[in-house]
Amino acid sequence: MDGVTVIDHPLVQHKLTLMRKKETSTASFRRLLREISTLLCYEVTRELDLTTMRIETPMEEMDAPILEGKKLVFASILRAGNGLLEGMLDLVPAARVAHIGLYRDHETLQPVEYYFKAPEDLENRLIIVVDPMLATANSASAAMTKLKERGARNIRFLCLLAAPEGIERFRSAHPDIPIFTASIDARLNERGYIVPGLGDAGDRMYGTK
Ligand code: URA
Repeated sequence: MDGVTVIDHPLVQHKLTLMRKKETSTASFRRLLREISTLLCYEVTRELDLTTMRIETPMEEMDAPILEGKKLVFASILRAGNGLLEGMLDLVPAARVAHIGLYRDHETLQPVEYYFKAPEDLENRLIIVVDPMLATANSASAAMTKLKERGARNIRFLCLLAAPEGIERFRSAHPDIPIFTASIDARLNERGYIVPGLGDAGDRMYGTK
């Protein structure tokens, strides 16, 4: 699918299966999410530009590769996005973090913004937006619009699971933003849940109902 990368690494797929199982405990779900997000982060940052820096090893001088440009921004769509943040920050500890508070009105399925906090200079940074579930795409799409209004020009979206309907809506609203996901599931159900999915990601990671 155009603009969509499915991260099919065996470790990602194995951990995702464990997360989907309904008997997986909150503690295990959270641990698996942290582990899988590190692997997803590795893939979503695979194409980052490098430059070189002159360094001295104990043996001699060399031009060694380092990441080019300003620090990355990880933008979490609250609250479930926070579950992906921890593992990503393990891998890129210097990343800046944005929080976008959007909840889904259960009647209309439309996103309602209640919080937005991001670093100032979004225009000069790569922003990786994280939310485990790309379902209706209403929240993700609204988050992208908000980031673009604040100057963001280089955005990637990372999720665990995506519904085909969500991908289509997201890509028609934001064709410039690539999607990275561990799986494209079968469909959305009538309540806007991904099927077969894993249930409500926020509830499963925080033990709420
Ligand atoms: N959000 C979730 O947590 N799960 C879904 O299946 C859809 C949206």
